[in-house]
Amino acid sequence: MPQHIAVIMDGNGRWATKRALPRKAGHKEGVKTLLSIARHAFERGVRYFTVYAFSTENKFRPADEVNALVDLIREHFSRSFNDFVKSGIRVNVLGDRQFFPDDVIAILDKIENESKEGDKGTFNIALNYGARAEIARAINLLVQSGEEVTEQSISRYLYTANQPDPDIIIRTGGEKRLSNFLLYQSAYTELFFSDTLWPDFSKNEFDEILVKFHDRNRRYGKV
Ligand code: IPE
Ligand code: IPE
Ligand code: MG
Repeated sequence: MPQHIAVIMDGNGRWATKRALPRKAGHKEGVKTLLSIARHAFERGVRYFTVYAFSTENKFRPADEVNALVDLIREHFSRSFNDFVKSGIRVNVLGDRQFFPDDVIAILDKIENESKEGDKGTFNIALNYGARAEIARAINLLVQSGEEVTEQSISRYLYTANQPDPDIIIRTGGEKRLSNFLLYQSAYTELFFSDTLWPDFSKNEFDEILVKFHDRNRRYGKV
């Protein structure tokens, strides 16, 4: 069983446009898929589940769409995600939360605090996250600490400190790129690309990816 699965949840906007709906309707539907797939992943025994929900670049989208995304974050971090906390899942935000309004920052801080003893799994949600910004931040913190710069010490200052690297990254929505997601952590991650638009992604497709993962030969540069 892979310990850590990460997902680039792409295709919400196209899902909505295909239905002549505003893009934000796609994000709303995408949250439903997120809640169901995250629950399923933890039930399958995944220990770390990470999703890319909002990139450092996504904040330059039209204000109407950014506001809709911030509203969804406010709504779900104060309600739906509490079910994960109740079942012992630690909720962890990756990224620079200072971008968000104060009340949203308070909600994110609160859920992290309330769930920090959770030992049934870790649910990482990347919000205003970019891997290059994450690496630059880590190196700054490392230099300030006076520690030697090594592969391991850099890891310890990333948002994913003390977590295993992802075994799997799934990207839905048809594009074949990482879009600034987990660049340091994904050195030996198995990549899976699906044409399914995120709101249509199913537990069944998730399980199919797990089966394919077992057929991959992870050599880590060895023979
Ligand atoms: C991914 O869906 C969710 C976010 C980036 C917030 P998109 O909004 O990128 O959907 P497409 O790629 O335009 O279809
Ligand atoms: C990546 O999707 C970010 C998230 C899924 C949150 P984008 O839609 O922003 O990526 P690009 O623009 O296609 O690279
Ligand atoms: Mg996209």
